[in-house]
Formats: sequence, structure tokens, C-alpha cells
Amino acid sequence: MDQLSDLILTKLLDSAKTAASHAYCKYSNFPVGAALYTKDGRIFSGCNVENISYGLTNCAERSALFNAVSSGVKAGEILGLLFYMPGNKFYSPCGACRQVMAEFISQDTKIYASSDLDHMKSWKMKELLPEGFEF
Ligand code: THU
Repeated sequence: MDQLSDLILTKLLDSAKTAASHAYCKYSNFPVGAALYTKDGRIFSGCNVENISYGLTNCAERSALFNAVSSGVKAGEILGLLFYMPGNKFYSPCGACRQVMAEFISQDTKIYASSDLDHMKSWKMKELLPEGFEF
């Protein structure tokens, strides 16, 4: 599946926004949520979890991925990942999240950026991390 249906994207957006409402972001005040869809029709979500030692912060995209992997989802079983970041512009995912996404998300699978704008932006995984680290 190259492109997720509008129905699934709406569900992912809903799920990502709910996750963002759980964000622990007392230092940045920037709540982020992410949700991904698996081959067997499950949705996993996550939020950013900050820490007083700033570098220990976990981004929403990684939280959603770790949540899915912790429930048995394997590399290549993810059909799309959407993140929600508040505001009227599009953000793109941080470098650490791109490398972790590339571990579990296939090169042609899409990553969707959402915000408070009424449309989304998307990239293929391979566009977000061309020539990522590999053995
Ligand atoms: N953040 C994410 O959750 N995902 C990203 O891709 C970039 C940044 C979080 C980390 C931090 O809690 C807040 O956004 C501000 O950087």
C-alpha cells in the first residue's frame, strides 16, 4: 500500500492528537503526538516525554515506534506514520527520529506531517533519510 486512505489518516490524526494531549513537555511547552498504522490494522501512538536532563527527552515518533515494537510489531509491518505538531506550519521530524524510523519503516512507506493547517504534508521514508546509516 503506497498511500493510506483518508479514513485511516483521519484515525491516525485523531490518535496523534490524543497522544499529544498526554505529552510531558514542561520544558519546551511543545506537545507532539505520533501514530502509526500496521499491516494487521492496529494503531499505536506515542507522545514526547521530556526530562530535566534535556538530552534524555524522547520524541513522539520514537515513543510511538517503541510502543509498537513492544507489542510485537516487526520491521516492515508499518504502513504509515503520522505526527502532529501544533501550529500553522509544517515541521519535519528530528534526525534521531529519522534514523529510528528507518530501522522499522520501509523506504517507500510514507511519513505524514500534520499541524493545525487543514492539509498534510508527506514524504517517503527514503526522502527523509537518504543514505542513512547501515551495516
Ligand atoms: N519533538 C518531537 O517529539 N519530535 C520531533 O521530531 C522533534 C521534536 C519534541 C522534542 C521536545 O520535547 C519538543 O518536541 C521540542 O523540541
